[in-house]
Amino acid sequence: MKKCLAVLLSLLLICSFAFAEDAITSATLNIDRLPEAEAQENGILVAFFSPDDTTRAAAYAVAAGLNAALFEIVPTEPYTEDDLNYFDSFARSIKESKDPLARPAIAALPENLEQYDTVLLGYPVWGGKAPKIMLTFLESVDLSGKTIVPFCTSNSSPFGTSDGDMKLLTDGSVTWRKGTRINKGSTAEEIIEKAPEILNPEE
Ligand SMILES: Cc1cc2nc3c(=O)[nH]c(=O)nc-3n(C[C@H](O)[C@H](O)[C@H](O)COP(=O)(O)O)c2cc1C
Repeated sequence: MKKCLAVLLSLLLICSFAFAEDAITSATLNIDRLPEAEAQENGILVAFFSPDDTTRAAAYAVAAGLNAALFEIVPTEPYTEDDLNYFDSFARSIKESKDPLARPAIAALPENLEQYDTVLLGYPVWGGKAPKIMLTFLESVDLSGKTIVPFCTSNSSPFGTSDGDMKLLTDGSVTWRKGTRINKGSTAEEIIEKAPEILNPEE
């Protein structure tokens, strides 16, 4: 009897997670319809990692709303569909998430970082945290003296302390602002309108 109950509960859990993902996928941002974000000389850079395009769409809209420049954090070894299968505990993304020393390599770093006072960091939540490639990024660039503003996308997890590991790496050398989770059901227009609030959240 207990066994049956446990199986039923596991099934319910899996179904609710799958349902949450479906509900969001149907309202996923359409990046084709996003306005082009052009690099402006206003000292703001939106740097993002997005192996499955959701955070990319959010980043484009945030950059458009702030007239900011965009930089994509591209992994040297791209993530395949299998790599991103979080139901597989041996998938690359899951193994990296669990390994505190994992630092996936980045193909290229941004040039002329000195022209930016503020850097927004966009990423998908992986296992309640930021993907390890974000740590590679922070360890590879000098952001001291700048204001850092994290934002994330996720299926259902709140922003929480998803930026915790990243913040630790900056060692107090930056001004770290509160982060925002961007809802996957948002339209590009909604994100553009919300961009100033993402940049300057209420503490
Ligand atoms: C390895 C992995 C772990 C994930 N962990 C979580 C999680 O803990 N909570 C959550 O709500 N979504 C989780 N997701 C879903 C992603 O955060 C979500 O789909 C995100 O919007 C994907 O962004 P992207 O399209 O830019 O990659 C996970 C996805 C992957 C691939």
